[in-house]
Amino acid sequence: MNKTINLTKTIKQILDDGARYLQSKGNNSARTDAESLVAHGLGLKRVDIYLQLEKTLIDDELRELRELFKLRATGKPLQYILGSVAFRYLEIDVDENVLIPRPETEIIVEVIADIVTEKSKVLELGTGSGAIALSVASEVKAKVDATDICTKALSVARSNAQKNGVSGVNFFESDWFSSVKEKYDLIVANPPYVSLNEYSILQTEIRDFEPRVAVTDEADGLQCIKMITDLALSHLTDNGYLVLEIGYEQREKVKRIFEEKGFKNISAKQDLANRDRFVVASA
Ligand SMILES: C[S@@+](CC[C@H](N)C(=O)[O-])C[C@H]1O[C@@H](n2cnc3c(N)ncnc32)[C@H](O)[C@@H]1O
Repeated sequence: MNKTINLTKTIKQILDDGARYLQSKGNNSARTDAESLVAHGLGLKRVDIYLQLEKTLIDDELRELRELFKLRATGKPLQYILGSVAFRYLEIDVDENVLIPRPETEIIVEVIADIVTEKSKVLELGTGSGAIALSVASEVKAKVDATDICTKALSVARSNAQKNGVSGVNFFESDWFSSVKEKYDLIVANPPYVSLNEYSILQTEIRDFEPRVAVTDEADGLQCIKMITDLALSHLTDNGYLVLEIGYEQREKVKRIFEEKGFKNISAKQDLANRDRFVVASA
């Protein structure tokens, strides 16, 4: 008797198979990743896949989903596969030219919003995807200049401004302050603060996929912070502020650098895990 093999799959089956496959590859968010990949591959919202669990998928859909699962199993970050990430009130597109904006960085926007008003002029150094600059422009309505050394990152940031309908950010290329001419009420940066030693033991998801220039200073982790603090005072208005995101073990060293450069009112602020993550100081 001929045995017919049923090769069709429902959404539920591909979700279960995909999650098991990712887990077997060491992914510890396998189930939620599987849900995001299936939703993305089928052009659905995540909640909607649960309304159609028993739907049978056609061959093309199955092929597409298998490719997405294989890609994720290589370690490629989910956000690069999906192409975007939620950051505060914005949907920020990301590709391999920009660091994936981290949830803890959302807090820096609150720190800035507590200091500036819509009359302020803000400068972001190293904007990457533009997440911080665009959030400040849309939430605080301040005028923002935003720079990066990487031309391709600036293209992503400009396109994010358009996609989110945020005007009021002027993006330009600059090696830290090299092309910065004006003075600002607040300067913000989330610089590459990972030391070369730490970089060598970072998760491969970061090392193999995110831009190296966005993560490490190739030295002790403090070099970009020193370069920024060296020149920041000459680009700040009289009562201007400098706000930096730092590694959570760098607080004391960074405070000392700020003191040496002549900053006042130096304080640290914490991320949601209560780790020192931001240093704020005035000119
Ligand atoms: C940690 S990422 C931060 C990206 C974004 N601001 C965020 O918070 O998600 C650091 C950024 O600094 C940029 N960068 C590195 N060296 C730079 C330099 N010398 N001048 C300007 N930007 C630089 C990188 O291209 C990268 O976009």
